[in-house]
Amino acid sequence: MNDTADNYRLDRVTISKDAIRVRVSELASEIEREFRGREVIMTGVLKGAVIFMSDLAREIGPSVDVRMDFIAVSSYGNSSTSSGVVKIIKDMDVYAEDKNIILVEDIMDTGLTLSYLTEMFTARRPKNFKICVLLEKPERKKADVVIDYKGFTIPDEFVVGYGLDYAGKWRHLPDIWRVTDKG
Ligand code: IMP
Ligand code: MG
Repeated sequence: MNDTADNYRLDRVTISKDAIRVRVSELASEIEREFRGREVIMTGVLKGAVIFMSDLAREIGPSVDVRMDFIAVSSYGNSSTSSGVVKIIKDMDVYAEDKNIILVEDIMDTGLTLSYLTEMFTARRPKNFKICVLLEKPERKKADVVIDYKGFTIPDEFVVGYGLDYAGKWRHLPDIWRVTDKG
């Protein structure tokens, strides 16, 4: 596989921006019901979760005291195969202890990244730890991770847009697209 996006092209839209908007607002309602009257620190995993989290946060009403924080991670070793060992490039700005944390991630592929992060966060003794992902690819699952809020289940295809990238490209697209080999 090439490190640039040169060998790939956008194939077709698999989840439209309208479908995303509807689902994001449903997820926001779930979070609202569960955390009404309480403080929640939405913690986005940079950079993939940025667009999803900004839409999700804006759909949550003032009944929840929403805070935003971010972490940045990189996996050790080969970038195209998840090893499950994650290096924290940027940590949260606040302490997670005794807080309600919702970790917001773009996609669960093998689950190794989220499994590592779950252990890391649990060790910090938050009051509550929830995971929210926009997309899940169950066919690729290697680690058992409980997802509390999930946008969509998708087949084993590489997708971009709405924050998701291939080699840094296509994050800004409002829909989610399948990419394909130019070949
Ligand atoms: P996991 O540890 O295998 O679950 O890795 C998840 C990470 O792989 C995500 O945070 C994404 O950065 C990346 N990833 C996996 N599948 C896709 C995809 O289809 N499009 C874009 N990024 C993906
Ligand atoms: Mg990512």
